Amino acid sequence: MINYKDLGLVNTREMFRKAVDGGYAIPAFNFNNMEQLQAIIMAAAETKSPVILQVSKGARQYANQTLLRYMAEGAVEYAKELGWEKPQIVLHLDHGDAFETCKSCIDMGFSSVMIDGSHLPYDENVALTKKVVEYAHLFDVTVEGELGVLAGVEDEVSAAESHYTKPEEVVDFVTKTGCDSLAISIGTSHGAFKFTPEQCTLDPETGRLVPPPLAFDVLAEIEKQLPGFPIVLHGSSSVPQDEVDTINKFGGALKAAVGIPEEQLRKASKSAVCKINIDSDSRLAMTAAVREVFANKPAEFDPRKYLGPARDNMKKLYIHKIKEVLGSDNKA
Ligand code: G3H
Ligand code: 13P
Ligand code: ZN
Repeated sequence: MINYKDLGLVNTREMFRKAVDGGYAIPAFNFNNMEQLQAIIMAAAETKSPVILQVSKGARQYANQTLLRYMAEGAVEYAKELGWEKPQIVLHLDHGDAFETCKSCIDMGFSSVMIDGSHLPYDENVALTKKVVEYAHLFDVTVEGELGVLAGVEDEVSAAESHYTKPEEVVDFVTKTGCDSLAISIGTSHGAFKFTPEQCTLDPETGRLVPPPLAFDVLAEIEKQLPGFPIVLHGSSSVPQDEVDTINKFGGALKAAVGIPEEQLRKASKSAVCKINIDSDSRLAMTAAVREVFANKPAEFDPRKYLGPARDNMKKLYIHKIKEVLGSDNKA
């Protein structure tokens, strides 16, 4: 049993309270590899932003959960080397699928876990989340639960109310489970293809697809039911069109990739939404930079020569998110 506090990590409790009170959101960036982690820490250290390092099931399978945990421990020391005296870094399990997964992460030093029972019948979601909370709180590890199902790209978003979080359930869920934060569904979804072209309108000036707005009315009702309670948004990549254009220009084939417009995330950040999950944008930034090097320098075969530019591009993206979208700079 390793406690995260001995690794210099923090849980989300204080961080979320300050973010809700201060009207900003904490970035939760997924990582699978060293360059991503370096870019996240460099960006957070440079902007003095609290940051959540997220490890998904896919990341655990790809890179190994133990290795990722040690990388996060190293990240705390790296942040200090970069001049960030008291790094505010959370190591979080993203979309935990079972009690055993959460327990295993808690036991090895994660400071926060998500138990995603959103696909389960309500009572089973409550029971599973409660079980994880009871174990996690023994070690002061914070827990994110989820209510509502994020729309898939095939769903008819404008008619997806049944997938949205039901505001009438949130007080009961939070009270019965004791969870520390709640992920909700208000129209975001995972990946780089969040909406079909049919669900969007066309901006005649730019020729770009404009997605339907998030359900801010549902968010407002949830906030009314749970004043000041920390709310989480998954699936919040914006899918920057310049990265998509670079990928396509240098041999990629990303057609009609659409994300959540930044102004909507800015608006959400000012509300009780205090954790915003971003993964796909980092993948796009990395891929765009690598493709550009490969296209322009076909003789290059030193991985540092294409992963270095990829890291620079991700760092730029993370700093942009922190300063221009979430407003979490100078909060740590
Ligand atoms: O929730 C989804 C995240 O983007 C993680 O995706 O399981 O492919 O690592 P992944
Ligand atoms: P994106 O696919 O929009 O980056 O969402 C990531 C996420 O929600 C991770 O849990
Ligand atoms: Zn997610």
